[in-house]
Parts: sequence; structure tokens; C-alpha cells
Amino acid sequence: MSQRIYAIDTVTLTQQEGQSPNLLVQVQARAVSSGWRAPTLALHRYRQPPEDGILSFDLIGTAPDSLSTTLPVLTHTCADTVLPDVDLANYWGPDQPLVGVRCHAQSNTKLALLQPKLGIPEVTLIPKITMSEDFCPQFSRDIRPLFRPYDIAMMIMVRDLDLGSYEAVSQHGALILSRLKDGSMPSDGPWPASDIALFEQWLAQGKAP
Ligand code: HEM
Repeated sequence: MSQRIYAIDTVTLTQQEGQSPNLLVQVQARAVSSGWRAPTLALHRYRQPPEDGILSFDLIGTAPDSLSTTLPVLTHTCADTVLPDVDLANYWGPDQPLVGVRCHAQSNTKLALLQPKLGIPEVTLIPKITMSEDFCPQFSRDIRPLFRPYDIAMMIMVRDLDLGSYEAVSQHGALILSRLKDGSMPSDGPWPASDIALFEQWLAQGKAP
């Protein structure tokens, strides 16, 4: 049975214009062990357009069965999907643009935003650090999911700093940002620049809960 894969490292959007413009969504991730199969980005179904204009996917895969031999180490994996023939400016309806893509793993969620300007050159590699001016990150929706249970547990243990708590992260926001930026935290590898930019934008825009 499919289930969410452990954690996403990066989400990248690539847009290509032609007769039918496509949007390619690529995710780099890690599974908790070797042996996971069929990593897939499963699109959420929407009855109504989401308020923030962001399209969500679940990163799922098939876990190894109990009879297979697996290595219990974090194992890199990736998944991608193409949204064919997308009209970014009117994705959700007339004048309702696609603002970005959000991908949910088992322990975290990552967001990639499209450029605010929707003029599409022939082929555009959308940089990962693109913050739409209209987009206002919120702690519970956009920041809290960036911290893995592992980060939260370790930081409570070593510094009594609860990265799962809005109050603690707001209060120590500048210190956290400085450690994210100098690459010393998380201790097992820095965040991608897009996540650091998102955290910085959240601080700059008044730390919305
Ligand atoms: C996104 C994840 C993480 C963030 C934002 C973060 C943030 C921070 C911050 C702000 C400090 C300085 C605290 C102070 O000076 O009082 C710190 C220290 C520390 N963190 Fe983390 N941390 C993260 C993940 C982790 C993980 C996964 C581990 C361990 C496996 C870890 C281990 C430590 C240790 C041992 C210290 C004290 C030594 C030092 O200051 O370098 N952290 N972290």
C-alpha cells in the first residue's frame, strides 16, 4: 500500500512554453530505508480553488514488504510529474493564477512559488528563490511543516528550543535564521535556499501564526 515518503529536500518547478505549455514539478526526497518503490506525486483533488492559490501534492511510495532485505538508512529518492497545458494566469478560473506548488511528505512539507510575473519566455527555469509579493507565509501552514520531528526532538533536548511552537520560533526567529543561513543548522545538512528565503519572508512580514 502506498504511504507518504519520509521527507522532502527540494521542490523545483520548470515551465516550458510551446503549443501546450507544461509545468514540470520535481521533488528530491529521502525515504527511511532502502527498498521503497514507485515514488509518486499524487495530486490533491479540489472541489473549490484553495484560498492561497497553491496546488498540493502528496509524495507517496510503496514501502518494502516485511520479507525484503532493506538497509535502515535514509535513502535518496525523487519523483516528478507534469501538469500539461497549464494556463498559469487562469489556472483556478478567470484571473485566478496558480501561485505555487506545495508537496507533503510524512515529516515535512515544502513549498515552491511561481514567479509573480506570468509573462512566459520560451523556456524558463523558475529559480527556487521566488517569493511572490502577495504571498504571506503563515507559521502553521508554511513554516511549522519545514521542521522534521527529528529537528524538534533534538533541539528540545540540546537547547530546550521547541521548533514546533509558534511562540518559541517567533521569539528566537533571528537566532534561528542566522543558524539556517550560516548552514550550521540543521546539523545534518543545510536547508535549500528557497526554504531559508521563506523563513526570512515569514519573519519580515510580521510572523503570522
Ligand atoms: C531546522 C532545524 C534546526 C534548527 C532551526 C536549529 C537551530 C538551532 C539554533 C538556533 C541553535 C543555537 C541555540 C542557542 O545558541 O541557544 C542550535 C544549536 C544546536 N543545535 Fe540545532 N537546529 C536544528 C536542528 C538540529 C538537529 C537535527 C540537531 C542534532 C542532531 C541539532 C543540534 C544542535 C546542537 C548540538 C546545538 C548546540 C551547539 C551549537 O550551538 O552549535 N540541531 N540549533
